[in-house]
Amino acid sequence: MPRPWVPDHHRLAAKAQGFASRAVFKLKAIDEKYGLFKPGQRVLDLGCSPGSWLQYIGSRVGQKGLAVGVDLNPPEIEMGHPLYFLPGDVSSIDFDLIRTLSRDFDVVVSDMAPKTTGIRQLDQQRSLELAQEAFNCARELLKPGGHFLVKIFAGPETEAFINTLRFSFDQVQRLKPAGSRPASPEMYVLGLKKRAGPGQGKRRRPPDITNLKEKS
Ligand SMILES: C[S@@+](CC[C@H](N)C(=O)[O-])C[C@H]1O[C@@H](n2cnc3c(N)ncnc32)[C@H](O)[C@@H]1O
Repeated sequence: MPRPWVPDHHRLAAKAQGFASRAVFKLKAIDEKYGLFKPGQRVLDLGCSPGSWLQYIGSRVGQKGLAVGVDLNPPEIEMGHPLYFLPGDVSSIDFDLIRTLSRDFDVVVSDMAPKTTGIRQLDQQRSLELAQEAFNCARELLKPGGHFLVKIFAGPETEAFINTLRFSFDQVQRLKPAGSRPASPEMYVLGLKKRAGPGQGKRRRPPDITNLKEKS
């Protein structure tokens, strides 16, 4: 369990380097291994506040790129091109509004997390629902060949969620990056190279993920 009053190595390092949160080191570790971001890319960051991922993504895509963050709460960082923020709930996201900033995106990331209750099954369920919302955004806004990274609290439905992603991406990896507390239930799922569309990939049409929601 996070203990915000106890300074840890990653929190101190984030502060020293001017990042809004220790979460940056998880994204950095994944980017260094998989090469997610490139200069000039357009990236959508779901659950972006307080803003360390946006800061990192902005530094990677540069002035010719774009990093659009969405969150219930405003970021606590200095905004300005290439960083943009849209307030709101990802479950009722306005795709048309996002498309006014960019028609589609090279990478969609989600670090969204529910307010935890301490009731493990409930927290897992809420995290799964957020991951599914993020996946809906990726299906809508991620361009073919693009990458999708999503946080999820590991639980009984995680495998089914990962299997759903396998219909849409060439490769799907489960990740527990450096910077993620070993005791935390969080893990990340990375979908590499989105397939062009239903029926165009190597696998058959994916199941309707609303069924997945009802089952769990
Ligand atoms: C762990 S924090 C993200 C940290 C961020 N990656 C960073 O580097 O600063 C999780 C965020 O998810 C957001 N969140 C949770 N549910 C959401 C929802 N339904 N829509 C939008 N944002 C949501 C929370 O407000 C919170 O800011």
